[in-house]
Amino acid sequence: MGNYISYLERLKGRSLLEDVISSDGVLLIAKGCILSESHIKLLRKFNLQDKIRTGSAIDLLDGDFERSMEASITYMNEIFHLAALGKLPSLNEFRETFAPLMKKIVYRLNVTQNMYSLKKHDTYTYAHSVNVGFLSGFIGRVLNLSPENVSLLCEVGLLHDIGKSKIDKNLLNKCDSLEIEELEEIRLHTYYGYNLLTEMVGNNTQIINGALLHHERLDGSGYPLKIQHDNIPWYVQILMVADIYDAMVTRRAYKEKRTPFYALNELRVEMFNKKINPKIVIPFYAYLLRQYIHSYVVLSDMSYGEVVFIFNDQPERPLVRIEKQIIDLRKHPELSIIEVKPFL
Ligand SMILES: [Fe+2]
Repeated sequence: MGNYISYLERLKGRSLLEDVISSDGVLLIAKGCILSESHIKLLRKFNLQDKIRTGSAIDLLDGDFERSMEASITYMNEIFHLAALGKLPSLNEFRETFAPLMKKIVYRLNVTQNMYSLKKHDTYTYAHSVNVGFLSGFIGRVLNLSPENVSLLCEVGLLHDIGKSKIDKNLLNKCDSLEIEELEEIRLHTYYGYNLLTEMVGNNTQIINGALLHHERLDGSGYPLKIQHDNIPWYVQILMVADIYDAMVTRRAYKEKRTPFYALNELRVEMFNKKINPKIVIPFYAYLLRQYIHSYVVLSDMSYGEVVFIFNDQPERPLVRIEKQIIDLRKHPELSIIEVKPFL
């Protein structure tokens, strides 16, 4: 009995790969569902533990998500190339290509986990633009915005860094620390993006502002205009959160990637430092906390365990079950999470 209970308990947080149907043909839990406590109770009640097949969220993808992401990155590469030549397509053409991909990605389960489980790309700038586009739309979903606004956020995010197409690739990918002049040159991508998108046929204010203002911060410490609070449009404030999060969890030429637990803490710190809007961060943060409960992590001593509880105020130091022992990372400063694995 003990083993049976712990087996079912272990399924919590995993995704269902096939429908669960009762002996009399009633659909009890649909494929794609992330198993919760109430699902576990249901499975126990109907004694269906042998009839279910679960996996990680990534198993659900049937290649479609990955193909859509790959196609998006390839298309983004092309867009950057065209922008560098001053031949940016019209917003309508851009939308025609990206709208179907966006629907396949932003309306998926576990978008954030899936996005960061994909194989790594060397093309940071293109992958970052795609991630920030879809992540901005996804945050819009978390905030219960309308489908029109979710699409708008995706477009604003997808095009936010287009100004980087005008910056020397060697500078963008430089591994050593940047000189002040180099940093200033990179910062010009906000103006370059503004100029490129002002020229784009069928453009709108939101995408132009997204490119110009995504490095602003609510306290005025950002760039290029150093504007504050409500002077930064709401959709740019969402874009800022997506940009910070993605920059943290993706590997760049000059920076190792961090775990989502670290990125969560960074969002918290940025919020308490009044740089980004709590009305956006708190719901997104709560969503991410739920996502990473029951994830499997590797610790700095190479031990491997399951995250069983994440503290709101110290997300990078959760409780981790290693075999039968619960380790409270708050009490083990010598240990840290170095990698998040897909579910077993
Ligand atoms: Fe940027």
